[in-house]
Amino acid sequence: MNDVSRAAAALRAGDLVAFPTETVYGLGADASNAEAVAKIFAAKGRPADHPLIVHLPHAAQLSRWAMDIPESAHRLADAFWPGPLTLILKRHPAVIDAITGGQDTVGLRVPNHPLALQLLNEFGGGVAAPSANRFGHVSPTTAAHVRDEFGAAVSIVLDGGPSDVGIESTILDLSSARPRILRPGMLDAAALADILGEMPALGANAEAPRVSGSLESHYAPATPLRLVAPTELETTLRDALEAGLSVVVFAPDAASFVHAKLSWQASSMDPARYAHELYASLRRFDAMQRDLIVVAAPPVADSWCAVADRLRRAAAGGK
Ligand code: TXA
Ligand code: MG
Repeated sequence: MNDVSRAAAALRAGDLVAFPTETVYGLGADASNAEAVAKIFAAKGRPADHPLIVHLPHAAQLSRWAMDIPESAHRLADAFWPGPLTLILKRHPAVIDAITGGQDTVGLRVPNHPLALQLLNEFGGGVAAPSANRFGHVSPTTAAHVRDEFGAAVSIVLDGGPSDVGIESTILDLSSARPRILRPGMLDAAALADILGEMPALGANAEAPRVSGSLESHYAPATPLRLVAPTELETTLRDALEAGLSVVVFAPDAASFVHAKLSWQASSMDPARYAHELYASLRRFDAMQRDLIVVAAPPVADSWCAVADRLRRAAAGGK
């Protein structure tokens, strides 16, 4: 048996499998098996009312999981699946409550990674998978990150190399009249609007279903992180050093000054490259065990929206 076959067998047996996707690594379980899904919540330490995304081998399975599927969902699936887009649709009555957190909608996506697709095709059904990190931690983009998070608690980790995109999928809610982006991702509003024929709304509204990623403290490294305008960077660093703090600074420019307690780390000027490196960088900065991470805020532009969202949340968390 090869690794993928062993992983598919584990899913069938009700066990957890961590696997790569193009966005981040997922911690998967058979989405139709409530006991298996419960193991995800236990392993992550995630509140049980947070809904999970169901990963499918192909869009043809949509109708097993959702109903009243709008035509736009099929067009988006044709255009972007497999890919970093999660669609929120009315749930099919057969979908178990453990997946939906008891809501009347379900999140679905076909991931674009050869190993994930092999696993899903060989398993044949839906695989529920949140990002493979403990609740509130930074999402993993390599198999080594997953092992750091769970150690022996997750015995099967498929290694597909570093995730290409690097941050989580765009979540688009199609369950009510106006399409709404609940979580921005590298697939941006303009690309969705091209297929939808209208601009989606942005952000959760009062009636919108819960998105655990919308909790402010999500995606946070353990080290406090401060997000500052590039023009404020030097003053912030000088103040922190004066206060005796050791600092990692993540900014596109070369070091503007040198100090024994300051470590400059170069960030990319390209949003796709920046997203690809972001979570691995945050983990690396944590490992450096400094007092503070200072990040130069990226430009205010649509192409940076998803990265800026994750940085804001990282800045709101930590200890
Ligand atoms: O890129 C991704 O989406 C990754 C990979 C593994 O596919 N998965 C991921 O899962 O980020 P997770 O659980 O870390 O985040 C999924 C988000 C959560 O914020 C959850 O609340 C939201 O999707 N979600 C799932 N089902 C939903 C629903 N029915 N309504 C609203 N939000 C939902
Ligand atoms: Mg997550």
